[in-house]
Amino acid sequence: MKGVFLTLEGLDGSGKTTQARLLAGFLEERGIRVRLTREPGEGLREVRDLLLRGEALSPEAEYLLFSADRAEHVRKVILPALEEGLWVISDRYLDSSLAYQGYGHGLPLPWLLQVAGRATLGLKPHLTFLLDLSPEEALKRVATPDRLERMGLAFFRRVREGYLRLAEAEPGRFRVVDATRPVAEVQGAIRSSLLPLFGESPHLP
Ligand code: TYD
Repeated sequence: MKGVFLTLEGLDGSGKTTQARLLAGFLEERGIRVRLTREPGEGLREVRDLLLRGEALSPEAEYLLFSADRAEHVRKVILPALEEGLWVISDRYLDSSLAYQGYGHGLPLPWLLQVAGRATLGLKPHLTFLLDLSPEEALKRVATPDRLERMGLAFFRRVREGYLRLAEAEPGRFRVVDATRPVAEVQGAIRSSLLPLFGESPHLP
């Protein structure tokens, strides 16, 4: 595999999407070919509608739908781009399921990981940026917080704790960034973490 696979993770409202776009722009300016993508929806678009239209689903069904989308995402989008030597930046990936369906909804991690092994063909990100902030902060930033409010703060506290545990368990892959800092500072922290991947010193703006 010739490319580099980066993921952004965090609560709704943590600023992942903004940071993913800024990062893609930064890499492209350096002549790196980038594929910006996200979950859910790039694998199976219908699954995104099904998942986000708000119908109550069991966590098991939710996880299997996210996994079906991810299986297609890996095979149709991520792996082909990596084979071509692109840098893939995904706004959410498997860690979202481990945090939301695992820690948030209480599904057993061994089952999630067993399904994920086949669904993702074992593909792991080279680096994962966890944009960390409290659910209270996150809620303030979300334009339409209905979904968040419905899930309740306790759920998002578990999701946040879950993310932090995942990061602790794999310090080599995760970089935890304080997402309450200004956008430019968060981006600066992300770019600095990439220095070792460049193999030369990049010209940071
Ligand atoms: P989206 O509108 O893409 O939110 P965001 O802007 O935060 O990425 O909706 C994704 C929602 O789905 C978000 O609340 C997180 C949730 N989700 C899971 O619960 N499990 C998963 O595996 C993924 C990929 C997302």
